[in-house]
Amino acid sequence: MKKLFPPIVYNTITLTGIAVFIISFGLILFLTVIELLATETKPYMGIITFIVLPFFMLIGVLLMFYGIKRERKLIKKGYKRERTLPVIDLNNPVHRKLLLYFSSGLLFLILFSAFGSFKAYEYTDSNEFCGTICHKVMNPEYTSYEYSPHARVDCVKCHIGPGAQWYVRSKLSGAYQLYAVLFNKYPKPIPIPISNLRPAQETCEQCHWPKVFFSEKMLKKTYYMSDDENSHWSIDLLLKIGGGNIESGPTSGIHWHMNIDNKIEYYASDERRQVIPWIKSTNEDGIITIYRSTEDDFDESKMDKDAIRRMDCIDCHNRPSHLFRNPSGLVNELMSIGWIDASLPDIKSTAVDALDKGYSTKANGLDSIEIIIRSYYESNYPRIAIAKKEEIKNAIAELKKVYKRNYFPSMDVDWTKYPDNIGHLYSKGCFRCHDGKHVSEDGKVLTRDCNACHIILAQKFENSSIRISLGGVNYKHPVDISEAWKDTNCSECHGD
Ligand code: HEC
Ligand code: HEC
Ligand code: HEC
Ligand code: HEC
Ligand code: HEC
Ligand code: HEC
Repeated sequence: MKKLFPPIVYNTITLTGIAVFIISFGLILFLTVIELLATETKPYMGIITFIVLPFFMLIGVLLMFYGIKRERKLIKKGYKRERTLPVIDLNNPVHRKLLLYFSSGLLFLILFSAFGSFKAYEYTDSNEFCGTICHKVMNPEYTSYEYSPHARVDCVKCHIGPGAQWYVRSKLSGAYQLYAVLFNKYPKPIPIPISNLRPAQETCEQCHWPKVFFSEKMLKKTYYMSDDENSHWSIDLLLKIGGGNIESGPTSGIHWHMNIDNKIEYYASDERRQVIPWIKSTNEDGIITIYRSTEDDFDESKMDKDAIRRMDCIDCHNRPSHLFRNPSGLVNELMSIGWIDASLPDIKSTAVDALDKGYSTKANGLDSIEIIIRSYYESNYPRIAIAKKEEIKNAIAELKKVYKRNYFPSMDVDWTKYPDNIGHLYSKGCFRCHDGKHVSEDGKVLTRDCNACHIILAQKFENSSIRISLGGVNYKHPVDISEAWKDTNCSECHGD
């Protein structure tokens, strides 16, 4: 019988290598078919298909070559293989029995490995897998996601979106991520912006269609000051979200301006897109206006043209699902709904201070919060510590809860690491461009008017009457900082 391959291939090691190769390859095909048929896709499903099995395939190839090399050496030494493969004689009952055992063993092995790899494959899709392998890394994002308006939207809907091309891309980056996690090569915190995040048109806009944006959104806020009575004040803002469909009516507001008709491009001089010295706006008639920062020392001729970015949803909504909150804003909310008792003296400043101390571990943070709050009242207000024991206990419990959701020392994540671009109080946000210091050649300043993006409908301070106007009241800053709030970015005092 003529052999398919040169005789040198017919040695046990090479043949084993070929078998390993074929089985792994078959399993990859098998899992790929299953994956194509599956209705739901999750980013880490491909780990088995794209990392584990190819690894075995590689072992198979190495075995093949090793076998051949060894055989060559043996031949050189004068060794001659008489019969490369055993002869099976089906008339021999011993041979028959062996063949039966061998083939049922082989069948069992193949079925078992198909089943095993399918199970492993299912496992990569489970929460448990994320819990054991990626949990530490993704914990901040996963936790914040669970408390976000998108808690029912699968990660892949934003991070991958529909279509095959991005699916394959995510498989490849998923493979790299697994490597990074296993070998502890990932940066802490995970750097932003995600450089290869899919354009928002293909993800967000699958659900939020810009033409259906409309109207306003009411934002009611209550703030507590860092004095011993926690004196409070409130503001009502009507956010001019706007948008709309030009074919069915007039368009206006924040969304219309940014996305439907106008094209805004910008250049950021830092990695995190927080410092923006150059902005180009092209309106619906194709008229171009360039705004330059009068503050930044920026050499336009050295600007990397490829780094110019077209503004989309993510430039404002960069934290739609993973928001790490500012402690002052958090405590204000807990106090305004009564979950932290506002009659506890100094609770605002003590609570903010306790949350934001930068603990080295979560457990340490949780213990310290309890100790700080408790001992504050025991040493400064011993009578209140006894009379309001329950209130203090509740406050501690609520603070621990929000600490757990917003601070992740093991990944070095908190509000200072991931700025939220939607407002302008605790991070620069809109004021990266609308700081009143971005000017066009003909002298047009990007607006910083307090009633341009929202109307300040009302403002009320404790012990004074409410000021209301549908056209917008003049803003009054809660503490006297003279005119500083008019030209200094709010985040310079309120941010990190
Ligand atoms: C509503 C859309 C959306 C959903 C759902 C979503 N993400 Fe994100 N994710 C984003 C955006 C937007 C960013 C920030 C991109 C940037 O700043 O460049 C981000 C960033 C991240 C980052 C980078 C670190 C960080 O905090 O910025 C990780 C890790 C991440 N997401 C994991 C997940 C996981 C895991 C899930 C599911 C449990 C998930 N995401 C669900 C939109 C989403
Ligand atoms: C699979 C559909 C889906 C995708 C994709 C999606 N969202 Fe959403 N989004 C929702 C749902 C559902 C809600 C909750 C609606 C509600 O509460 O009325 C929501 C709510 C929101 C809100 C309002 C949040 C609030 O505080 O009420 C914003 C802003 C938002 N999404 C932005 C985004 C951005 C930005 C992206 C892309 C990164 C995105 N969404 C991707 C479905 C989606
Ligand atoms: C110029 C910044 C900016 C851009 C760009 C932007 N948005 Fe918004 N969007 C806002 C602001 C500000 C609000 C109101 C504040 C809030 O909801 O916290 C808002 C509100 C929303 C809401 C909630 C509306 C509601 O009634 O609660 C959704 C949904 C939304 N945006 C989706 C998107 C999507 C999708 C895109 C991309 C096509 C986008 N936005 C682009 C600034 C922006
Ligand atoms: C990358 C820079 C940039 C950022 C960030 C930015 N904007 Fe703008 N915005 C512009 C430019 C440029 C214009 C003016 C376009 C024109 O008229 O040429 C504009 C115009 C506007 C207008 C219309 C103002 C008017 O004169 O009527 C509103 C409202 C607005 N932006 C709201 C926001 C809000 C809210 C945010 C934050 C969530 C924000 N913008 C963030 C660049 C930016
Ligand atoms: C470029 C648009 C823009 C301009 C100009 C602007 N704001 Fe805002 N402001 C916003 C947006 C958007 C939010 C809502 C953030 C959110 O949804 O949490 C906001 C929120 C606020 C809040 C509530 C902040 C919080 O998170 O508790 C205050 C207070 C405020 N603005 C005051 C002002 C004052 C005072 C001025 C004038 C100096 C001003 N704003 C100018 C866009 C703007
Ligand atoms: C020069 C520094 C400075 C600037 C600039 C500044 N603030 Fe303040 N702001 C303060 C101080 C100090 C307090 C009092 C904090 C306290 O008592 O806890 C305060 C308190 C506040 C509070 C209550 C804060 C909270 O978390 O409870 C709000 C809201 C506020 N300022 C809004 C603004 C806005 C909006 C701007 C920008 C238009 C701004 N501030 C600019 C110094 C500043």
